[in-house]
Amino acid sequence: MAGEAEKWVLMVTAQTPTNIAVIKYWGKRDENLILPVNDSISVTLDPEHLCTTTTVAASPSFDSDRMWLNGKEISLSGDRYQNCLREIRARAGDVEDEGKGVKIAKKDWEKLHLHIASYNNFPTAAGLASSAAGLACLVFALAKLMNVKDDQSKLSAIARQGSGSACRSLYGGFVKWVMGKDDDGKDSLAVQLADEKHWDDLVIIIAVVSSSQKETSSTTGMRETVETSLLLKHRAKEVVPKRTLQMEEAIKNRDFASFAQLTCADSNQFHAVCLDTSPPIFYMNDTSHSIKLWNLALMKQLFSRIISIVEKWNRSEETPQVAYTFDAGPNAVMFARNRKAATLLLQRLLFYFPPSSAADLDSYILGDKSILKDAG
Ligand code: DP6
Repeated sequence: MAGEAEKWVLMVTAQTPTNIAVIKYWGKRDENLILPVNDSISVTLDPEHLCTTTTVAASPSFDSDRMWLNGKEISLSGDRYQNCLREIRARAGDVEDEGKGVKIAKKDWEKLHLHIASYNNFPTAAGLASSAAGLACLVFALAKLMNVKDDQSKLSAIARQGSGSACRSLYGGFVKWVMGKDDDGKDSLAVQLADEKHWDDLVIIIAVVSSSQKETSSTTGMRETVETSLLLKHRAKEVVPKRTLQMEEAIKNRDFASFAQLTCADSNQFHAVCLDTSPPIFYMNDTSHSIKLWNLALMKQLFSRIISIVEKWNRSEETPQVAYTFDAGPNAVMFARNRKAATLLLQRLLFYFPPSSAADLDSYILGDKSILKDAG
């Protein structure tokens, strides 16, 4: 390793947005490799609003691998981090930085330790897919630092081993996580269905209801569902395979009516599967017992209100205007067919949930901030 005497530090910083599933991943067939029981489809958000920024550094002066998340040191000893680090190190290439006089040969990466600093610009583990952005960003940044030549799809199979939904954040736009068939997980990876420019009209609005961490983690929740829910078996075998094909068609044709119907139906079935779990999981109402009572009441009101506002509104129009989806956390994600529908949606949300009288409704995060101005 040339340049060792100078105790150099080599660094790379990357930024990765989170993604929101419109066909949900829920249930693993292999917990260690993180192989899902069904395909899933998501939309990657614009990095301005919900993203992770990660800096990875290597230096001969580091004596162990360490990581800080939002400024606090966290342990890297878990299997998920270790699997990602091992997979990336195994694919590392030669690196040369002439400016620093550093030359690292492929085999040297096994001996070099890493320091990793990661920041989320949104609440961690509150159902806004922070692990998706975090693990995707980590794998991407490490691959750049170590000159890994694998393409995004191969990298997605590594990120998948950190957190399933992370594989979809390696791409922008509309992304499918193909569940794969192989036992080694090599064919369980993400592919891009359409890039971020494909469906420009679509506006995403996220109501951040609570920044508290969810009580049942996705990992534990889906394990219990796999063990106890018969509905999940039906969903994975009969429902999702057809629904995924229909969703791909809807995205390809920018067919909002089908997109909205499939998105809402899939969110509702995901929560039905959670209810079919023993003991039942209620992500949509009492997500966290630790949340203050008035916040809980607000959340219940928000979920049922948003579902009924959207369902009624769509029925009263010739064609649907808005879709909703809820993940394993208390926040609501809505898709509007265009800016006009987004403006009307925002007006209704602000009317029913005026932020000044509901302090916990922290903010509305928008795909496009100017909508807020249009809404007045
Ligand atoms: C409801 O990817 O967080 O958001 O693989 O155990 O880390 P692990 O789970 P995770 O689960 C996400 C579940 C979901 C649906 C989805 O994003 O598809």
